Amino acid sequence: MRVAVVIPAAGSGTRLGESVPKAFVSLGDRTILEVCVAGVLAAHIADTVVVVVPTELIDTAQQLVPEAIVVAGGAHRSDSVRAGLAAAGAADIVLVHDAARPLTPPGVFDRVVAAVRAGHPAVVPGLPVADTLKQIDPHPVDGAERVVATVDRDLLRAVQTPQGFTREALQRAHADDSGLATDDAGLAERCGIPVYIVAGDPLALKITTPWDLRIARDVVAEGAS
Ligand code: CTP
Ligand code: MG
Repeated sequence: MRVAVVIPAAGSGTRLGESVPKAFVSLGDRTILEVCVAGVLAAHIADTVVVVVPTELIDTAQQLVPEAIVVAGGAHRSDSVRAGLAAAGAADIVLVHDAARPLTPPGVFDRVVAAVRAGHPAVVPGLPVADTLKQIDPHPVDGAERVVATVDRDLLRAVQTPQGFTREALQRAHADDSGLATDDAGLAERCGIPVYIVAGDPLALKITTPWDLRIARDVVAEGAS
């Protein structure tokens, strides 16, 4: 079965606040995008790698990651995923992997691909949650949020990428998209496709804020990845 990996990297990185879009920010002596693509290639699971970037950075990205097919993204993450999926060719399995998780180790890719090959149409890596989680009332009173419940964290998982799908499942999931989903599995759930969890990895952390970037840079500097 042919495997394509689609890497959405077309976001602007507003929360990171750097002067260039997030995937083009440095991580050690490379960009986040280069580290991410190298991580995908090191997992040896991909027949095709598609990178989705802002239109004006297509040439730059193609020079940074010549191994990948580079295409332009859209306004929302899911628009970018669809652009990547359209360029992924005749793959049987498609993994969607955020550029923002560049340190994801090969074992996570292996587990996701193995579970899709074993017959699950949608598979996401997930980790148990360490913090105690409170549900709040959505309407603050005098600026203060009120707790309405303590949720059972044993039943929760923090999910990561790569998220793996049969091509049919991913296409079906994206056929009806409101633009609000923050991950592809969420779209799959909404159209009744069963989604399964495999073990994630702390190294698959998502670089969202300057604090996350600091942690990722420390990991790279220590050679711990
Ligand atoms: N992404 C994308 N196209 C978009 C928006 C996001 O390809 N229109 C990608 C990002 O490049 C990132 C992944 O989706 O690799 C996860 O999104 P996120 O972490 O939110 O990144 P940004 O949207 O760039 O960050 P922010 O929301 O802070 O602007
Ligand atoms: Mg975003």
